Amino acid sequence: MTNNNTESTISMINLQQQYAQQQTEIDQAVAQVLHRGDFINGLEVKVFEAELAKYTKANNVIACANGTDALQLALMVLGIGPGHEVIIPAFAYVSVAEVVVLLGATPVFVDIENEYFFIDVTKIKQAITPNTKAIIAVHLFGQTGNLVALMDIAVEHNLFIIEDNAQALGASYTFNNETNFLGNWGHIGCTSFFPTKNLGCFGDGGAVFTNDKFLERKIRMIASHGQSVKYQHDLVGINSRLDTLQAAILNVRLKYLTEQQNQKTEIYQYYSQQLAGVEEIILPKTNPNGHPAWHQFTLQVKNGKRDALKSFLSKKQIPSMVYYHIPLPAQAAYKKVGYKPENFPIAQQCASSVLSLPMHPTLSKPQMDNIINGIKAFYYG
Ligand SMILES: Cc1ncc(COP(=O)(O)O)c(C=O)c1O
Repeated sequence: MTNNNTESTISMINLQQQYAQQQTEIDQAVAQVLHRGDFINGLEVKVFEAELAKYTKANNVIACANGTDALQLALMVLGIGPGHEVIIPAFAYVSVAEVVVLLGATPVFVDIENEYFFIDVTKIKQAITPNTKAIIAVHLFGQTGNLVALMDIAVEHNLFIIEDNAQALGASYTFNNETNFLGNWGHIGCTSFFPTKNLGCFGDGGAVFTNDKFLERKIRMIASHGQSVKYQHDLVGINSRLDTLQAAILNVRLKYLTEQQNQKTEIYQYYSQQLAGVEEIILPKTNPNGHPAWHQFTLQVKNGKRDALKSFLSKKQIPSMVYYHIPLPAQAAYKKVGYKPENFPIAQQCASSVLSLPMHPTLSKPQMDNIINGIKAFYYG
C-alpha cells in the first residue's frame, strides 16, 4: 500500500511492475551471468542457497528446478515408493498427490479444516496404517495451521513430516517460546519460486530445506542424477537444478522479500478491516501461534454465491481467482473407486466457496478500495 501505483487496471498479480522496481539490479545480476557463462551450478546458486538459509534459518538449503521436484526429492530421499502410504490434504495444489503416485506410493487423502486450510489433524490418526510413512502438510495461502498437533502425531507414530511451503515462504510458527520458519518444523521443507510466489523467479525454481546433514547430502546426490562424483551414479536420481540465471534474479529479489511481505501484511489488514462487516463472507484468519507470510487473501463466500460474486467483480474489471475448484481426491487422475465427496466435507465446501482477491505488493489503496467497494456493491447494491 506504500507504493505510488496509479494504474486504474487491477491485476491479480503484477510481475512487470515488480520487475520495474528492481530492474537495474536484476539486469546487472543477469548480465554478470551472461558474461561469465556459468549457466549450470554457477556462483549465484551457491550464494542463493546460503542467503536463503540465512533468511529461513534452515541449516541446509538445496536449490532445485521447481517446487514439485522439491517434493519428489523429499519423498525419494526418505525411500518412499511402492507399498508405502503418504497422508496428504484433500485440498491443496496437485503436486502433493502427483509426486506420491509417480513414485509408486499411495496417497491417502485427509480432509482439511476451514480456519487455516490446513490438514485436519483430528482426522489424521484414523488414516494411519502400518504402511504409512509420511505426512505432507501444505501451508496454503501463506497461512499457518496447527503444526504442534501435527508434530505430536508424527512423533507418536514415527512418521516423517514434509512441509510444502511453496505458498508460505517467510511464515513462521511459535511454540513453547520457540519460533521457527515454516519448512523447518518437519523433517524436510519444500518450496517453489514460481514467478507468482512470495519469492518468485522469472521461470521455474524450487528448494528443499532440511536440518539433517545426512539428508542434505543425499538430496544433493538425488537431484544430480544420483552421483556422488561426476559420472559415478550411486543412487537412482533425477536432474533437478536451479538455473544460475534464476538464482541471480532470486538473490536480488530475496533482499526485498521482507519489505514486500510487510506490504502484503498491510494489504491483509486493510482488506480485513474494510470487509469485516460483510457477513456473507468469511475472512482469512491468523493462527494465534502463527506469523503468516500472506500469499493470497482467500475469502470463503457463504450461501453458494461465490461464482456470482466472482462474475459480478469481473464485470467491474476486478479480477479474482479460485484456488482450487476441485478437491484432490475428486480429480479424475486421483479418484478411486468408491470415492465419496461426503468423506471430505470441508475440502468440498472450500472448493465451492473460496475466492482469492488481488494481493501483490504493488496494489494501491485506490485499487483496494475499488475491490472492497465492488464486494460491498454485490451484497448491498
Ligand atoms: C502449495 C504448492 N505446492 C507445490 C507447488 C509446485 O511448485 P512448482 O510449480 O514450482 O512445481 C505449488 C505451485 O503452484 C504450490 O502452490
